[in-house]
Amino acid sequence: MFSPDRERALALLHKHNQSQSLRSHALAVEATMRHIAWQWGENEDYWAEVGLLHDVDYEEYPEEHLKHTPEILQSAGYDEEFIRAVLAHGWGICTDVKPEKRMEKALYAADELCGLVTAAAYMRPSRSVVDLEVPSLKKKFKDKKFAAGVDRQIIQQGCELLDITLEELMQLVIDGMRQNHEEIGV
Ligand SMILES: [Fe+2]
Ligand SMILES: [Fe+2]
Repeated sequence: MFSPDRERALALLHKHNQSQSLRSHALAVEATMRHIAWQWGENEDYWAEVGLLHDVDYEEYPEEHLKHTPEILQSAGYDEEFIRAVLAHGWGICTDVKPEKRMEKALYAADELCGLVTAAAYMRPSRSVVDLEVPSLKKKFKDKKFAAGVDRQIIQQGCELLDITLEELMQLVIDGMRQNHEEIGV
């Protein structure tokens, strides 16, 4: 297994992602993955780095998302386990790599929910995740017109894969994003 290195990963992210919103999404998923790994006694730095780089090819290849990820990550020295985890977040959407490990399932579930948390946080007077709570996030989840691009079914499926409730996943993502909300910008 390779050793995680946040500086190197951030440099790779910035090289391939100029958009502030994509960088901010990457940081949100990173913080969430770090928090879930910490909660579950897993390798925090490793999970965080998978989160940080999960959409690394999206800006350059939006129509071919994850098709170019293996070459980008391989040439940067990432191993098969890391690359598989990244590819599995596109399961049923743009890859057929099914999430099997907990790390892969967590990424699959958290990625989509991070989008909803960000949108819900921006609606608050604080424009921040700091005072966003699960009940209010649940209302946004049920309101299909709110952040309509967020696929609620993927989030539900992620909870089933992880065998946790929607409320538990929501709390994990909110708490995770709070840990680094200033850098994420929410
Ligand atoms: Fe993605
Ligand atoms: Fe993503």
